[in-house]
Amino acid sequence: MDATWTRVDEYLESVCLGKDPVLEAVLKSCDDAELPRIAVSPLQGRFLGLMVQLRGAARVLEVGTLGGYSTICMARRLAPGGKLVTLEIDDRHATVARENFRRAGLSGSIELHVGPASDTLDLLIRQCAAPFDVVFIDADKPSTRRYFECARRLTRPGSVIIVDNVVRHGAVADEAPGDDAVRGIREFFEVARRDPGVSFTALQTVGLKGYDGLAIAVVNG
Ligand code: SAH
Ligand code: DHB
Ligand code: MG
Repeated sequence: MDATWTRVDEYLESVCLGKDPVLEAVLKSCDDAELPRIAVSPLQGRFLGLMVQLRGAARVLEVGTLGGYSTICMARRLAPGGKLVTLEIDDRHATVARENFRRAGLSGSIELHVGPASDTLDLLIRQCAAPFDVVFIDADKPSTRRYFECARRLTRPGSVIIVDNVVRHGAVADEAPGDDAVRGIREFFEVARRDPGVSFTALQTVGLKGYDGLAIAVVNG
C-alpha cells in the first residue's frame, strides 16, 4: 500500500470527520473480539451515511454486518422512524454488532438477521417486504451477483444499490480471474450491464484499505 494514501486518508479524516467516540469504541470492540479488520474506512462510512441522508432513506438493507461499523454509519442518518435491516451469517460477529448497536443507541432502528444472507433475502422477497431505499452489499464476494439480483427485487425506482470491493487491487480487470471473489464481482457487473432497469457506475478508491473500489446503481423510474 502506498504510504501517501494513508497519509491523505488521515488528513481527509481530520478535516471531514469530527471525533467519534462511538465509532472508535466499535472498532476497539472488533479488535478485542479479533474480528477481521475489513470494515469500511471512516471516510467510506461517512460516504455511506451521506447516501442514506441524500436519499432521505427510511428503509436501508445491508448484506454483511461484521461488527456493525458501516451499519451504524448508515443507521444514524435514517429518516425519522426509519429502519435498517442488516444480514450476518456469523454468530460471533452478530454478538459484537448487537452490543455496538446498543452502545450507539440505535438498537431500536436496526434489525439484525443472523443466517445465510441468501436465505434471509429469499424470505424478505417471499414476505413482500416494503422496498428498501438504499442497499449496501458487502458480504461474501462470490455471491455478489445473487445479492444484487435480490436487491433489485427489494427496491423501487430511485433506490440506490452500493456494492463494496469491486476492484480488489485491480484483479477485477483480469478476464480469467483465478479467484471466486473476483469472478463473483465480474458476474455482478455482467448482470448489471444487461439490466435496463438500473443506471450504474464504479469508482476506484485508494486509502487506508488499500486499492479497491465501489459500484453505485440507481433503479430507474
Ligand atoms: N459491512 C461491514 C463489513 C462486512 S465484512 C462494515 O463495513 O463494517 C463481511 C461480513 O459478511 C462478515 O461479517 C461475514 O461474516 C459476512 N458474511 C459472509 N458470508 C455471508 C453470508 N453468506 N451471509 C451473510 N453474511 C455473510
Ligand atoms: C474483504 C472484504 C471486505 O468487505 C472488504 O471491505 C475488504 C476485504 C476480504 O474479504 O478480504
Ligand atoms: Mg467491504
